[in-house]
Amino acid sequence: MKVDGKHFRSIWLEPDGWSVSAIDQRRLPHEFVVAEIPNAEAASEAISTMLVRGAPLIGATAAYGMALAMRDDRSDAGLDRAYEMLVKARPTAVNLKWALDEMMRVLRRLPPSSRAQAAYARASEIAEEDVAINREIGRHGLTLIETIAETKKPGEAVNVLTHCNAGWLATVDWGTATSPIYQAHDRGIPVHVWVDETRPRNQGASLTAWELGHHGVPHTVIADNTGGHLMQHRMVDLVIVGTDRVAANGDVCNKIGTYLKALAARDNGVPFYVALPSPTIDFRINDGVAEIPIEQREASEVTEMTGRTRDGRIETVRVVPRDSQAANYAFDVTPARLVTGLITERGVFAANRAALAIAFPESAAASQ
Ligand code: MRU
Repeated sequence: MKVDGKHFRSIWLEPDGWSVSAIDQRRLPHEFVVAEIPNAEAASEAISTMLVRGAPLIGATAAYGMALAMRDDRSDAGLDRAYEMLVKARPTAVNLKWALDEMMRVLRRLPPSSRAQAAYARASEIAEEDVAINREIGRHGLTLIETIAETKKPGEAVNVLTHCNAGWLATVDWGTATSPIYQAHDRGIPVHVWVDETRPRNQGASLTAWELGHHGVPHTVIADNTGGHLMQHRMVDLVIVGTDRVAANGDVCNKIGTYLKALAARDNGVPFYVALPSPTIDFRINDGVAEIPIEQREASEVTEMTGRTRDGRIETVRVVPRDSQAANYAFDVTPARLVTGLITERGVFAANRAALAIAFPESAAASQ
C-alpha cells in the first residue's frame, strides 16, 4: 500500500537478491524507519521485539530468516538450528510454524549446495502468496460491506469496528481485516472505521490509524472500552478483526480484548467477522479456548507508554504506580459461537469444524 504516494510492502527483498528489509513498526506512527534484517538471528529478534508483527508477516519474516540462515550454514545442522531458533520467537501466531515447516519441507530434501537459492525462492513465494490471499480476502469481505451499504445504509458510511492491527503492516500487503475496507473505499463505497486503540502496545492507535490515514480512509481512534457503547447506539454496522490462530472447531485467537468485542457484538446483534488467510488455521488444535498458547509479554508494556511530546521528543513514561504489579496477556480466544463468519481467500464460511474442513480439505487431511 502507499506511504506518502510511494508503494511499500511491510517486508521485501532488496534488488541485490539477498538483503531483507522491513518497516520498523516499533517506531510508527512517529517515525518511518526501514530496518535491515541481515541474518537469521536478526529475523528472530525482529519477530520477538515486534519490529515486525502480525501473524502473516511473522510467517513471511521467519521464511526469509531461514533463507538468510542458508547463506551462513547450509548443512542439515544449520537448517535445524535456524528452525529451532525462529520457531521460539513468538508462541501464538501459528503462521510462524507454518512458514518454517514449509521451508523445511522444501529445503530438507535438497543438497546443501542448492538450499540458499531455493530458500530465497520459496520465502519470496510465501510473501507473494500472502499478498494474493489477502487480495482475495478483500474481495470476499467487500461483498459484506457492499450488502450493508446497499440495504441498510444507502448514502451513508458503513461503520466498521476493528481491533489491533490486521492491516497491511501485519501482512506483506493489503492486510486481512483491512483488505475489504480498502477495497470498499477504493470502489467509492463510503466506509468509516472505529479503530480500537489496543492497549497495551496500541497497534490500533499507532499502526491501523496510520495506515488508514495514508490511504485516505476515514477513521476514528477510540479507547478500547468504547466499542460496547457504540454498538448499543447502532454506531457499528459490523466488526472485522484479524486472527493469529483459528482452531479446528472455529475458535479464534486474536489480540487481547477481541473476545470482549465479540461479546458486545453478540449482545447487540452486530455481525462479528474474522478475516484470515488459510495458513492461520491450525487443524491440530481441537479446542481453541483450552489449547491455543497465549503469549505473556513484559509487564513494562502495560506499566509504560511511549509517545511524542508537544515539543517533538519521543518519550516513554510510566503510567502505573511504581510498586504495582502488572500482567500482560497478549491474546485471547473468542469462542466460535460468537463469530458470525470467517472471511478467507476461498469465501466466507461458518466458524465450525465441518465448514472449515470442507473449505480447506487438504489442510484438514494433512493434520490427521
Ligand atoms: O501482537 P501482534 O501485534 O503481533 O498481534 C497482531 C494481531 O493480533 C493481529 O490481529 C493478527 O496477527 C492478525 S494480522 C493479519
